[in-house]
Amino acid sequence: MSYPWKSSVILAPMSKGSNLPFRRLCCDFGVKTTISEMIFASALAKGNRKDLALLRRAPQEECFGVQILTKNPDDLDIVVPIIEESGADFIDLNCGCPIDEAVKRGMGATLLDRPNRLEQLLERMEKVCHIPFTVKLRSGYKEGHINIKQTSKMAEDHHASGIVVHGRTREHRYTGTADWNMVKLAVETVKIPVVGNGDILTWYESEDRLELSHAQGVMIGRGALIKPWIFQEIEEKRDLNLTPQERVEVYSRLTRYMLEHFGNDAHGQRTTSSFMSWHFDLLTRYRYLPESSWHEKSYEHPLIQTRLNNIYEGHPLDIVLASYGKNWRQTLGNIFVEANANGYSQEWLEEKLSALAPEIIANYQEQIKRKAEKKTTCEEPVSANGLPYNQF
Ligand SMILES: Cc1cc2nc3c(=O)[nH]c(=O)nc-3n(C[C@H](O)[C@H](O)[C@H](O)COP(=O)(O)O)c2cc1C
Repeated sequence: MSYPWKSSVILAPMSKGSNLPFRRLCCDFGVKTTISEMIFASALAKGNRKDLALLRRAPQEECFGVQILTKNPDDLDIVVPIIEESGADFIDLNCGCPIDEAVKRGMGATLLDRPNRLEQLLERMEKVCHIPFTVKLRSGYKEGHINIKQTSKMAEDHHASGIVVHGRTREHRYTGTADWNMVKLAVETVKIPVVGNGDILTWYESEDRLELSHAQGVMIGRGALIKPWIFQEIEEKRDLNLTPQERVEVYSRLTRYMLEHFGNDAHGQRTTSSFMSWHFDLLTRYRYLPESSWHEKSYEHPLIQTRLNNIYEGHPLDIVLASYGKNWRQTLGNIFVEANANGYSQEWLEEKLSALAPEIIANYQEQIKRKAEKKTTCEEPVSANGLPYNQF
């Protein structure tokens, strides 16, 4: 059985997150296999314009898959040819989505609890699909219902070209720790390629999980949203310590790709600003976690579960780019759009961003004052180099 993906590292399908401009940015950092945001097959079958738009790929995407969500085999008769016609390299069947909107309608992770329905879908895929298809699974629906051996075998029996295993149940959603022993179990069960997924934030965690599971590849979701350069780190097996100026350039590039995609008119700028604000929720979580000091800690729990404190000392850009909060996210989104929509220089952008630092520090000092008045403890200031961590 040939490997359906072009690379051993894959960008995960993520609603909203793995939008086309973001996937293009990840391609700049070397990812060769990307997947669309999930598409409800019923909406695509009706020719919904927004869903049809999700089939688009950037020219930079070397191997692009489209992910669909359905419980109805008849949907596949209609949507598979549409996807094939769009030029996708493979189709991924979503059997892991935990959100209520999917689960209540009998799709996504519900299929793990309904093996007969899953089998019907796989049988139909086998019949109607002329390009490789893959299946994205979780370890089971809930504790006590772990059935990754059964579902991965079923995918193999129906000639799926590969499977992705996220080592959590539906009930776990994103809580707890992804269990890579579930990936290992799938690897031991089937001969088709298995890609493991869950909780990878650093190249050394990727190496460790591959060694544990013997999976043929890793799929990265939130790790890429936090630092899109993770693909280069994994490829080169080293930490990339991007300066704050370099990070501003990367985020600015993403903004530019968005404006190119959504349009540089008032509507496109509003859409870009809203997307960038969403992205900054994760991009501001980035902290430098060098292998020398963090590898050891990653054995205690995956580093993605480590919520690092804000930064209040050092370079103003470091302070601004590490600041959480809805209002800040929106402010950052607006500034990046203003700069790129008007062709302002990187220097302009850096100055405008740096000017926010005093306000962040003042807010922090105000927070300390209020907490002291309430006689409660408060967060310690940290520098970019001395990073305490809190598990959340
Ligand atoms: C914002 C967001 C949206 C997601 N949307 C999808 C989706 O559309 N389809 C899917 O199969 N998984 C989706 N996922 C799950 C991811 O593909 C992945 O399985 C999960 O995040 C675990 O990997 P990670 O720890 O590398 O993030 C989403 C995850 C996030 C964070």
